[in-house]
Amino acid sequence: MQDLGKYEYLLRLKASDETLFYAVLVSHTAELVPLVYTPTVGRACVEFSHLLVPRGGLFISLEDRGRVDELLSHWPERDVRAIVVTDGERILGLGDLGANGLPISVGKLALYCALGGVTPRHTLPVLLDMGTNNERNLADPLYIGLRRRRAAPGSPELDGLVEEFVTAVQARYGAGCLIQWEDWGNENAFRLLHKYQPRAVTFNDDVQGTASVVVAALMGATRITGTSLGAGEYLFFGAGEAGTGIADLLAYAISLETGCTVDEARKHIWLVDSQGLVVASRKSEGRGLAHHKLPYAHDAPAISGDLRSIVAARKPTALIGVSTQPGTFTQGVVAEMCAHNARPVIFALSNPTSKSECTAEQAYTWSKGAAVFASGSPFDPVLLDGKRVVPAQANNSYIFPAVGLATIAARISSITDHTMYVAAKALAGTVTEADVAVGSVLPADMRQIRDVSAVVSAAIVDDAYSRGIAGVQPRPANTLEFVKAAMWKPEYADISARM
Ligand code: NAI
Repeated sequence: MQDLGKYEYLLRLKASDETLFYAVLVSHTAELVPLVYTPTVGRACVEFSHLLVPRGGLFISLEDRGRVDELLSHWPERDVRAIVVTDGERILGLGDLGANGLPISVGKLALYCALGGVTPRHTLPVLLDMGTNNERNLADPLYIGLRRRRAAPGSPELDGLVEEFVTAVQARYGAGCLIQWEDWGNENAFRLLHKYQPRAVTFNDDVQGTASVVVAALMGATRITGTSLGAGEYLFFGAGEAGTGIADLLAYAISLETGCTVDEARKHIWLVDSQGLVVASRKSEGRGLAHHKLPYAHDAPAISGDLRSIVAARKPTALIGVSTQPGTFTQGVVAEMCAHNARPVIFALSNPTSKSECTAEQAYTWSKGAAVFASGSPFDPVLLDGKRVVPAQANNSYIFPAVGLATIAARISSITDHTMYVAAKALAGTVTEADVAVGSVLPADMRQIRDVSAVVSAAIVDDAYSRGIAGVQPRPANTLEFVKAAMWKPEYADISARM
């Protein structure tokens, strides 16, 4: 059976026997997560208008302004505590899919439940239909969404619908209901996150979840390289949503671990975009520099040459690929990293596999086994001179289910950069000696992910109590036991309890 057929089967199972669906997902995580979520969910989004599957979430469109609360009242569950909301503008690497993006919210929340133990009836997947600029959808007679061009970022109609949605959610489910933004376009993603952070329990997984798991991987790498986080020099190849999100959290982590200011920590971090190295002189050239790159525009000569010459000039200890440009970490680039480091950190994070800056095998072979490698998409273990090396996958699934579980279990009232730092540190702490021995900078075994989620979640809960932002009182004596007890398990007894 094709993967899309398996996806359809699993979605029908979810609608008809939720407990069995989750029991299978929990017991076969490594095999089924790629079907329920990326990469298969991307295919499902492209074809969604043509699939006869249960929709599994709520559509709210620009034409529903003024009646968002009424639409929420149609959702059968009353006690909603976690919402994933997308507008379908930037689905995975597939771009604007409009209303066809709903499976992203559905799939993500399925992982909250399977990997983090969030109770399914507390979750609500949402698609805010802002129109689409996808010509294929607009011309498709079966397209399920609004047949109009996308509302512009910051326009009164787009911001008006988001505002009505957040207000209605908070009035109906309480101010503590978690709202996770998913796969919004760059401009809306940063804008809406910053707008709602002060008044909602909210985060953006593409920006903050990614940052947290990659900072955890960099912390894990210190166990192999022996170079502390604060002693590292970091070169980001790609300066978009993922790159600057990681850079910002990394600077925060360095400042906490070394006692320097965030501005001082940023001096360890350099960005490369499609125009070359980001340096101060570029602020006044051409169109200048985008706002999010400015803190990293350091004083140095501009280098617009190839990546190898930039690596030769900056001599980073870690090279982090978030560029969407496949094959850009060439043998020459890897050799240049090796010329300056006994154990160079090389992360090729662009997804899917076909976009990866280099493969695990290339990084290991070209560096004669010296590279400390992680990727965005999974790569198989590599045999090197008879030794098995296991590349880590910087998978956000190590972070967001734990954030969801902690937030719900302890009724945490705000999710901050510090929350993401605490999550990263806890995740790095779960990397075992056995993982390190095979070269993996994150937990290598996905089958243990519920245990990892519990540990990360407990750390977030502890931090929330220390900072006075946990609503459940009194503070539990043992937070790990507390979050484990809060984790939902797919057992039929639970269904009968609900009836
Ligand atoms: P984006 O489109 O916001 O940013 C891409 C950046 O790459 C831009 O700054 C662009 O200037 C730069 N770029 C493009 N061509 C370049 C070139 N030839 N040389 C140097 N820089 C170039 O995309 P976003 O969201 O930042 O994602 C980037 C990649 O990271 C994607 O492939 C995505 O799949 C991956 N990613 C991986 C995650 C993970 O491993 N957990 C999580 C999130 C994203």
